[in-house]
Amino acid sequence: MAARDRQKVQYRDLRQYLQLLEQAGLLKRVTAPVDLKHEIGAICARSLDRKGPGLLFENIKGYEGKPLVSNIIYSVEQLAIAFNTDPDIDKIYAIIVDGHRNPLPSITLGTGPCKEEIQYGDQIDLCEIPTPWWHELDGGQYLGTSSGIVTRDADTGILNMGTYRCMIADRKTLTNSGQVYKHLRKYEAKNLPMPIAVVMGMDPLLTLASGSPVPPDSHGNMEYEAAGAWRGNPTELVKCETSDLLVPAHAEVVIEGEILPGTRIAEGPHGEAGGFYGQNLDAFPIRVKCITRRRNPVTYGIIALLEEDYPRWLFRSGSFEASIIKKSGLTSIRKAYFPELGGLTWGGVIIAADIKDPAEPGRIIGAAWKIVPNRWVIVVDDDCDIRNWNDVMWRIVTNVRHDRDLYKGQAVRSEQKTGVPRGGRNPMIDIDNDIPDPTGIDATFRFKFENLPPFNRVSKGLMAKVAARWQELGLP
Ligand SMILES: Cc1cc2nc3c(=O)[nH]c(=O)nc-3n(C[C@H](O)[C@H](O)[C@H](O)COP(=O)(O)O)c2cc1C
Repeated sequence: MAARDRQKVQYRDLRQYLQLLEQAGLLKRVTAPVDLKHEIGAICARSLDRKGPGLLFENIKGYEGKPLVSNIIYSVEQLAIAFNTDPDIDKIYAIIVDGHRNPLPSITLGTGPCKEEIQYGDQIDLCEIPTPWWHELDGGQYLGTSSGIVTRDADTGILNMGTYRCMIADRKTLTNSGQVYKHLRKYEAKNLPMPIAVVMGMDPLLTLASGSPVPPDSHGNMEYEAAGAWRGNPTELVKCETSDLLVPAHAEVVIEGEILPGTRIAEGPHGEAGGFYGQNLDAFPIRVKCITRRRNPVTYGIIALLEEDYPRWLFRSGSFEASIIKKSGLTSIRKAYFPELGGLTWGGVIIAADIKDPAEPGRIIGAAWKIVPNRWVIVVDDDCDIRNWNDVMWRIVTNVRHDRDLYKGQAVRSEQKTGVPRGGRNPMIDIDNDIPDPTGIDATFRFKFENLPPFNRVSKGLMAKVAARWQELGLP
């Protein structure tokens, strides 16, 4: 079913989503006093490990009455509520891909709940927002781990929203780091300040769109429009007070500011999702000009870890699958999957395809490298369960030959690919800035063997039949 034909989601904003989670037993209130310094991060990490519920901290020491929520978009049950579908990862995945292909235009309102309170000048104090020191070696409080950073392309006027970490540098300054440079460099070339908005506490679909790649199409559709399609309702936007940026009307807090050309600031260290601490001595300082917010805002934060409150693989895979088919025209591609392991260090992507001729795997590998400079691209036949590492590895170890099935790609500097200087001090990032010798693996069977015996698997049809009898058979 196309995303636009399915039932709309049953919430309008983060607060209503939290209510639905609580009703379903997927959110727990924590009323015992907890510390912003390391304790909240460790509680979130332990609860993620134990596949626990979302956590609403209601009693943060020194921040009484200012709640902080976390762990609300990582489980399939939570995502089912976010997308208003069954707790079935394939159904959720299909909605994501459809939203990328068929974005829903947003609408702009005169005003919205995120403008209930407006602060300027001395009223601005970022330290009033409950912001954890998430990891023990963090160099500061990271406020923007789940927020959407909104900027506008100085040449095309197209908006972008992405999740790029922000550290509190002082009461009125945030640091920002990473891919925001794609827009910043255009303002710096014109010697202009870049307006920027840090949107906190968005509905879950906007948070999910923000943290995953949603390239703008020819109409300028981007994260807002993908989230609109997933939601079944257009994203409602309002204009910022100090710039022409458009931000989600139902967000909890919007921090408006600017980055002056050529200014840099040190940030970090910060624990990163790739598994190491990273630091950036040339981050971009955001001078805050205004904060607009709802009354009694709820803060939402994510701890970056190997196991996170964000299903990166799901969204990266969905976005990649939509892009590779659109850009390459290779309609043989059926599914793509970025396994969690190594996904953040330009690791690997697995692509399943209905191979029509022996040269097709090579074409797919080349097309994949044009979109992401991944170190490993593995192509398998479309009967492979690409999320099952055993099935993928079985195909590699049983049929791949180095003289026939391996493809050597060109080394790429990630900076050259993305235009983003890393400036990091994380040794892995510095090493992995270069993508040395990317390798493509053709692990397909089709066209390689004249007399391939049938695969020894229980067929899908037979499996479905016994599954239907499971209760009757008295099996758990
Ligand atoms: C929780 C989370 C934190 C992230 N932090 C950063 C970051 O600090 N810097 C960065 O460059 N990308 C970060 N990312 C990745 C970007 O948000 C992601 O690449 C996104 O696609 C960027 O959007 P864009 O492609 O529209 O620019 C993060 C993603 C998530 C889910």
